[in-house]
Amino acid sequence: MALPNKRPDDMARITTPELAQAFIEEQVAAVREQVGEKNVLLALSGGVDSSVVAALLIKAIGKQLICVHVNHGLMRKGESEQVVDVFRNQMDANLVYVDATDRFLDLLAGVAEPERKRKIIGAEFIRVFEEEARKVGDEVDFLAQGTIYPDILESKDGVKAHHNVGGLPEDLQFDLVEPVKLLYKDEVRVVGRELGLPENMVERQPFPGPGLGVRCLGAITRDRLEALREADAILRDEFAAAGLEGKVWQYFVVVPDMRATGVRDGKRAYDWPAVIRAVNTVDAMTATVPELDWALLKKITDRILAEVPGICRVAYDLTPKPVGTIEME
Ligand code: XMP
Repeated sequence: MALPNKRPDDMARITTPELAQAFIEEQVAAVREQVGEKNVLLALSGGVDSSVVAALLIKAIGKQLICVHVNHGLMRKGESEQVVDVFRNQMDANLVYVDATDRFLDLLAGVAEPERKRKIIGAEFIRVFEEEARKVGDEVDFLAQGTIYPDILESKDGVKAHHNVGGLPEDLQFDLVEPVKLLYKDEVRVVGRELGLPENMVERQPFPGPGLGVRCLGAITRDRLEALREADAILRDEFAAAGLEGKVWQYFVVVPDMRATGVRDGKRAYDWPAVIRAVNTVDAMTATVPELDWALLKKITDRILAEVPGICRVAYDLTPKPVGTIEME
């Protein structure tokens, strides 16, 4: 039986390892009862919610869970590799890894308009996932999803569209398994920790579905995307070293499609600027910009300029939301 969509008023907030263990045991039993001997398909992005659902289902039904990780080429540095390492190597999951980088980047070539980029990425994601679903379709009866309680509260028709593999064709409809749909984000993290997921996965900051695609502004090119990925990795590295992981709500690098002049090794440079974005927020509707330590900003700047080819300037975006949105496009 699927869970109801309403969180019971007397449901205790999961704040401790003990409460998380009790939840895990209860859901393991419920999932086993719901799916029996059948197979379950899950789109595993590597975000907190889908990762926790994967870990929970692996515990409940092992290889009856088929995880599909689609690498759209717009992931952050090391992210897809970590998904494979944690789920296939450490948890021995049934994981299908699809490197669809060329498909996505070819479709996006020359496309500059942000909403068109989003549509192309969203539609292609469904197409790739559908292809994988068809390969195993006959053996699968259930689709697992990392729906959480705010998704239910915030949407009129039940679930936020971008959290879903919504859009699968009629002949590929599955019954849903949504074991964390009554939990708030902080509870999902506590449960994930108890399931043995690595801390950086459990504390992962929100990452938009279109990924680095909306941070490589304008028409994406492979060289600028690579520069963005490297600069973003340095930023995340230094934030983690400074103890800011899980403390600053979201932080990332944006690389606009413009050039700035500079001098490097005595020669004129004409390269891209990198813009650091960091925000704190409760609900992403409004956001403030944290006063980052100057030494930290300087260290990140020095590293990006020294280590990332193609970047010759670094800026910190001071714009709160409103007026600026969190993402730059
Ligand atoms: P904005 O830029 O609208 O972002 O202030 C608010 C939050 O939403 C995320 N975001 C997205 N998430 N698909 C997503 O899944 C998208 O197209 C998208 N655009 C923005 C953004 O990262 C921030 O957390």
